[in-house]
Amino acid sequence: MKTQLTFFSEAEAPTANLKASRSGTFLDNMSLPIHRWFRYSAGFSAQWVERVLDDWQIDSRHIVLDPFAGSGTVSVVCDTRGIRSIGIEAHPVVARACKAKLSWATLIERFSAFAEQTVKSAKLSPAALSQYPSLIQRSFDPDSLAVLDSLKTAWFSLNDESHESELVWLAITAVLRACSKAGTAQWQYILPNKSKANVAFPDIAFRRQIEMMKLDMRWMQNRVKESLGEVISTDARHCSDSITHKVDAVITSPPYANNYDYADALRFEMTFWGEVNGWGDIHDKVRKYLMVSSSQHSSHDKLDAESLLSLSMVEPIRKELTSVVHELSRVREMHGGKKNYHTMVAAYCRDISLVLHQLRRVCRKGAKMCWVIGDSAPYGVYCPIEKWIGELALAAGFDSYTFKKLRDRNIKWKNRKHRVPLKEGLLWIEG
Ligand SMILES: C[S@@+](CC[C@H](N)C(=O)[O-])C[C@H]1O[C@@H](n2cnc3c(N)ncnc32)[C@H](O)[C@@H]1O
Repeated sequence: MKTQLTFFSEAEAPTANLKASRSGTFLDNMSLPIHRWFRYSAGFSAQWVERVLDDWQIDSRHIVLDPFAGSGTVSVVCDTRGIRSIGIEAHPVVARACKAKLSWATLIERFSAFAEQTVKSAKLSPAALSQYPSLIQRSFDPDSLAVLDSLKTAWFSLNDESHESELVWLAITAVLRACSKAGTAQWQYILPNKSKANVAFPDIAFRRQIEMMKLDMRWMQNRVKESLGEVISTDARHCSDSITHKVDAVITSPPYANNYDYADALRFEMTFWGEVNGWGDIHDKVRKYLMVSSSQHSSHDKLDAESLLSLSMVEPIRKELTSVVHELSRVREMHGGKKNYHTMVAAYCRDISLVLHQLRRVCRKGAKMCWVIGDSAPYGVYCPIEKWIGELALAAGFDSYTFKKLRDRNIKWKNRKHRVPLKEGLLWIEG
């Protein structure tokens, strides 16, 4: 099958709608230049980051760090203000998307030429659909998959690891969901057995994405000369050796201890690109680099609760953590799934403590941190996560912490029977 691709002129491209928003999710970012290039459900609001930078009076003299950078909301906001930033992200594909976004200063003509060349080559690339695993075959109509496959083949033949090449990789990756007929559950889990009503045509979606990116690049290049953001694709639990400058401020949101599996978030995209072949690959290619925040992770690693509880890293909260872990271990026997939430919670605290020690090493004395954080209640057993993080921060060498609730949260524990009230808010740490 051959593809039918042409480009929109810039005049036809969707105009940037830069309206401001007050609420605090990544959805708000989907109307903001650069942020909107890749939809990442786990992200937080760019406007909120701006307010924190304003309150702290952070400017071009300072360095801002996000140890859980995700799609790079903090980095992009810092770029718009000419502030140096460092983003650490352990998920290789999320980090790659983040890096591509920070390539906004690439010459637009080069990016445009690369995209056009990709389209031209795609027209000559016969599609080979039978190579795709069932997840991908079930998620697309054959005609759509043929267009996407040709784009992918063309991209592989042209890839020279340049910024423009990575930007086009991002453009293809970013339109996959919109072109798929499969539903997407909360937090980006793909549902091939559920179909959705609005499915985009890949040729149109790709052209629109390219034009939107060009528009945003022009918008940004008219304001700022270069990106001052560095994205390091590594594990925040051991990141301090990769950071050579002292950090003034940290704005971040870690995974919550709520069983969301970040490794699975982009399984769909990784499967399309041939980077994983099925569920089994995900642990070795992604999950093992992430901090433990899901029971799949702690089960796979066959973690032992008592060994985790004996670690010096959790010493400051050991008493309370031990009682929660033992309760979770008792309660799991009453549940069919026998999920390993007890080891998940213990390993989560160990990992947060490791990250806080790394942050202490890279932050200058008197630095400020803000963590967006939520508590959790697996099997109905309450975990005061924000208090634990605060205590672990003091033990790591920070001076003080305060927590401010933003909203009540009714976390969607699957099949949950408990009614434990949960909340999400801001943990301010200083020192
Ligand atoms: C709540 S999300 C952050 C989203 C980000 N604020 C944004 O706007 O896109 C948490 C991120 O932490 C990443 N992560 C998990 N474990 C990590 C680790 N050990 N080191 C660095 N990043 C990690 C996940 O892959 C995920 O992207």
